[in-house]
Amino acid sequence: MRTHYCGTIRTEQIGETVTLCGWIDRRRDLGGVIFLHLRDRSGSVQFVSDPVRTPDSYHLAETLRSEYVVKITGKVYRRPEESLNSRIPTGEIEVYAEQIEVLNRVQKQLPFQVSASEDETSVREDLRLKYRYLDLRRERMSANLHLRHQVIKTIRRFLEDKFNFIEIETPILTRSTPEGARDFILPSRVNLGEWFALPQSPQLFKQLLMVSGFDRYYQIARCFRDEDLRADRQPEFTQLDMEMSFMDQEEIMDLNEELICQIFKEIKHLEIPRPFPRLTYAEAMDSYGCDKPDTRFDLKLVNVSDLFKDSQFKVFSGAIASGGIVKILPIPGGNQTISNVRIKPGGNLFKEANEAGAKGLAYIRVLENNEIDTIGAIKDSLTPESKQQLLTITGAKPGDLLLFGAGNAAMVNKTLDRLRLVIGRELGLINDEQVNLLWVTDFPMFEWNADEKRLEAIHHPFTAPHPDDLSDLTTARAQAYDIVYNGTEVGGGSVRIHQREIQEQVFTAIGLSPEEAHDKFGFLLEAFDYGTPPHGGIAYGIDRLVMLLAGEESIRDVIAFPKTQQARCPLTNAPASVDAKQLKDLEVISTYKPKAE
Ligand code: AMO
Repeated sequence: MRTHYCGTIRTEQIGETVTLCGWIDRRRDLGGVIFLHLRDRSGSVQFVSDPVRTPDSYHLAETLRSEYVVKITGKVYRRPEESLNSRIPTGEIEVYAEQIEVLNRVQKQLPFQVSASEDETSVREDLRLKYRYLDLRRERMSANLHLRHQVIKTIRRFLEDKFNFIEIETPILTRSTPEGARDFILPSRVNLGEWFALPQSPQLFKQLLMVSGFDRYYQIARCFRDEDLRADRQPEFTQLDMEMSFMDQEEIMDLNEELICQIFKEIKHLEIPRPFPRLTYAEAMDSYGCDKPDTRFDLKLVNVSDLFKDSQFKVFSGAIASGGIVKILPIPGGNQTISNVRIKPGGNLFKEANEAGAKGLAYIRVLENNEIDTIGAIKDSLTPESKQQLLTITGAKPGDLLLFGAGNAAMVNKTLDRLRLVIGRELGLINDEQVNLLWVTDFPMFEWNADEKRLEAIHHPFTAPHPDDLSDLTTARAQAYDIVYNGTEVGGGSVRIHQREIQEQVFTAIGLSPEEAHDKFGFLLEAFDYGTPPHGGIAYGIDRLVMLLAGEESIRDVIAFPKTQQARCPLTNAPASVDAKQLKDLEVISTYKPKAE
């Protein structure tokens, strides 16, 4: 039907007759001359119609409206000097619309304007998602999906052509894999009373593929997790999932750095220096209060527990006495930039701290001549020596503000991490153009789950302990590694356990009895008896990676048909109820009772 894509017409086509198909992006009627902007996936081009140059098309051109689907044939001309447009690739030419054929009309009022010339930020997201097929016609969304495709294509080329990986599909109807989230489950009609789970990741299957000898596996894999949603979380999302045999942690990290560099080179034309910086989990928690620090700006935390353990100020010494810590977020020049109103109850920084679990937000302002400004109780508790020590250890100078967190370590870290990010963004310390990639390593194997009163695997229970820490697994470091991109965890992996005895010990450590372990993971333990190679792997969140590469703030903007924050699809209106007969066939009844209004 067509000779070219709209966005590809250039001065080389001047004099040629072209036929283009697409959607009317805009029609401008300048009294006697009509300009039509025709759009397809490649971009847009300007057509001209008037009674003198294109008498056959003019009357039809007058009737065209936004988003009509048309086919237009015409000759390419150079634009007159005054209408050259250097901002668009087709801005030097225009096409005289000799023949127009309407292929389909718009029958109803559009729910929103699609054209790039409209202010797209004004459209509500639920409306965009309800009419997603229109939303995806927009330049920004179309560019995001093209970028996503390019990223996946780069990954496939690199892994397959350079490193001999093969893609193998793993089941979607499966048993649950413990990645720490809730499962989506499906009843089996053929095996009444039994349930499949959708995979949270292909973890166990990819390990079994290593037992089979495939050696280097990857998959662009859909994963399902029934968790509360955030801007960087969806109930179904896509991983680049990889597993490798006969490679140790260093070799796996090395290959992955090369992969990431290749992605940045192809997509962003950036050379990322190697090796990537590394922090151990302990270092990351210590300096940043989180395991995925944004290292594009400094503002490091300082642990001052030693200094305050005997303090007269009971909020600090009491916190330490009950096993907690005291930490400081020093803000250079903070006296100028952050007022007391914001730190005290009612202020936005107080609110941030409070939402992270802190009851208060103590502070010290450093003045000239080592004087300080703070509440009386803190001032009274400091001797000249301890004040000097505090200034030395935090590196604080006159003009600086010190914000305190005191209490259990998890809460203190969470509070100061949150404040650090808010303040870093607000003070303009984050350069959005900068790319910081960072490995975080040496995670602990387990953390304490207070609700269930048991240890829980931090990565997953198939992660191998550090060989030096085998004597006590409960405090062992894991051979696990996360890759962090500007403060977002984009990937995580580990060396796996490949010996049955160690796997059994880990199951015991997380509170599984031998019977439960056998019931849930007997197939894996059995496989270990039949010749399992040492292996390890990693998985990336493709949506998160593409979101960051596209400069978007939500993964919904890089997924064609995402769910809302309420885990719904406004386009198809899923999830929905099902026929009573469907439930009956499955022998399932619902215990759900809608809450009274
Ligand atoms: P993990 O659970 O760390 O590891 O997941 C790997 C990466 O997947 C992304 N991710 C998500 N993206 C969007 N929405 C979600 N709900 C979501 N959950 C996770 C993150 C994360 O870094 N089987 C292991 C990998 C391995 O050990 O090889 C796993 O799934 O970017």
